[in-house]
Amino acid sequence: MTFSHLRSWSQTIWGIFDVVICIVMLEQFYSFPFLIRFRGAVGWYTVDLDLPPGKRWTALITDKKTDVRTLSNLANAFVPSGRLIELVDITLPLMVDTLPNPFGDEIKGIAAVSGIPLGEVVLFNIFYEVFTVCTSVVAEDNKGNLIHGRNLDFGLFMGWDVKNKSWIISEKLKPLVVNLDFKRNNQTVFKSTNFAGYVGMLTGIKPHIFTLTMNERFSLDGGYIGILEWILGKRDGMWMSFLTRSVLENATSYEEAKSRLAQTKLLAPAYFILGGNQTGQGCIITRSRLLSIDLLEIDLKLGRWYVLETNYDHWKEPLFLDDRRTPAMRCMNQTTQANVSLKTMYDVLSTKPVLNKLTTYTTLMQVSEGKLESYIRDCPNPCMPW
Ligand SMILES: *[C@@H]1O[C@H](CO)[C@@H](O)[C@H](O)[C@H]1NC(C)=O
Ligand SMILES: *[C@@H]1O[C@H](CO)[C@@H](O)[C@H](O)[C@H]1NC(C)=O
Ligand SMILES: *[C@@H]1O[C@H](CO)[C@@H](O)[C@H](O)[C@H]1NC(C)=O
Ligand SMILES: *[C@@H]1O[C@H](CO)[C@@H](O)[C@H](O)[C@H]1NC(C)=O
Ligand SMILES: *[C@@H]1O[C@H](CO)[C@@H](O)[C@H](O)[C@H]1NC(C)=O
Ligand SMILES: *[C@@H]1O[C@H](CO)[C@@H](O)[C@H](O)[C@H]1NC(C)=O
Repeated sequence: MTFSHLRSWSQTIWGIFDVVICIVMLEQFYSFPFLIRFRGAVGWYTVDLDLPPGKRWTALITDKKTDVRTLSNLANAFVPSGRLIELVDITLPLMVDTLPNPFGDEIKGIAAVSGIPLGEVVLFNIFYEVFTVCTSVVAEDNKGNLIHGRNLDFGLFMGWDVKNKSWIISEKLKPLVVNLDFKRNNQTVFKSTNFAGYVGMLTGIKPHIFTLTMNERFSLDGGYIGILEWILGKRDGMWMSFLTRSVLENATSYEEAKSRLAQTKLLAPAYFILGGNQTGQGCIITRSRLLSIDLLEIDLKLGRWYVLETNYDHWKEPLFLDDRRTPAMRCMNQTTQANVSLKTMYDVLSTKPVLNKLTTYTTLMQVSEGKLESYIRDCPNPCMPW
C-alpha cells in the first residue's frame, strides 16, 4: 500500500467519524445536558508571588503530595535504567541552580515539601515540555469578545493500560490538574490551569489583557538539540514554558506578550497561541528555536474569525494518523461566529478525536470577563488513543 493510499483511506475513515460525532451537530438534535460530559470541575489554589520562591508551592504540594509522588514513581518506571538514572540522580540536581529565577528555587521548594528527589522534580518539569500534544483555539464572536479554549493531551507512548483502555500516565495526571490564582499584593496577576509540581505554564490568562496557551511543535530543524545542549552546559535559550510563565507574570499588553513570545530564543520549537482583549487580537506564533517563522492572525476581513492550532504547522497538512485539525475546524465552521461561546467551544473540544484518550483537561477562557474554567476529561469508548 502506498502512502497516498493510506492517506485517502485515513481521510475516508475520519470523514465518517466526523459526521458521526461532531458534538456541535449532535447538540442541535439531542440537546445534551452540558453537565454530563465532564468528570469534574477543577479546584482552585492561590500562589502568592510575594512569598520567597521556595515557599510559594507549599500549600498546593502539601495537599497533592500523594498524587505527585505516585506520578513521579510511574515516570521513573518509564525511564530506562543506566545513563538516564545517572542523569536524573546526579546531573539534574546540579542543573537546578542553572535555571533562571524564580524557577530553580521554586523547584527546590517543591522537592523539599513533597520529599521527591530534586532530580526527579526537574525531570518532571522537563517532561511536560517534551511530551505534550494539544489543541488550542482563539475565536472572536460577533461582539468582538475573544474566547480561548484548549485541550491538553499528555502521556503519548508512555504505557497503555489494556484493561482500562487508557494511557497510564494520562490517568495519573488527572488528579494533579489544578487551577492557580497567582497573586501579588493580594491581587490576581494571572490565572492558569496546571499540573501540581510543574512551575512552567501551558495555559493561562492575564485577566482583561490576554490569554495564552502553548502547544508542542515537533520539528526536524531544531528539535531537541537545544535541550541536549542545555543539559551539556550550553544554556543560552529559554525553556518554552518558563517563557510563557514569565510573559503571563510580567507582560502588560497583548503586543508586549506577542513580541516576547516571538523574539526570545528558545530551547526547542513551539507554538504560542495568544489572544488579546480587542477585535483582531488572536494569533498563532510558530516558533523555531531562534525566532518566529510565521504569524497567523484573526482577520475578519478575510473571514478568519478564529485561529486553531494542534501540533502541525498551519500551512502544512497534519500527519495523516493524527489529524485533529480538520474535525476541529469543521466543528468551528459549523458553530459559526454568531454562535461561538464558551459552551460551543467546549463542544468543539469534546469532538473526537479532538477529545481523545490523552486529553487530561479542557480549559476555557474569556478575557473580557477575566474568566478561566477547566474540566478534567474522560473520553468515553469508542475513543481514539490520540
Ligand atoms: C483501571 O480500572 C480499575 C477499575 O475500573 C481501577 O481500579 C484501576 O485503578 C484502573 N487503573 C488505572 C491505571 O487507572
Ligand atoms: C485579600 O483580599 C481578600 C478579598 O479579595 C480579603 O478578604 C483579604 O482580607 C485580603 N487580605 C489581605 C492581607 O489584605
Ligand atoms: C517578573 O518580574 C519580576 C520583577 O522584575 C521578577 O522578579 C520575576 O522573576 C519575574 N518573573 C518571571 C517568572 O520571570
Ligand atoms: C486591553 O489591554 C490594554 C493593554 O494592552 C489595556 O490598557 C486596556 O485597558 C485593556 N482593555 C480593557 C477593556 O480591559
Ligand atoms: C472552515 O472554514 C474556513 C474558512 O471558510 C475554510 O478555509 C476551511 O477549509 C474550513 N475547514 C473545514 C474543515 O471545513
Ligand atoms: C445558533 O444558536 C441558535 C440558538 O441556540 C440556533 O437556533 C441556531 O440554529 C444556531 N445557528 C447556527 C448557525 O448553528
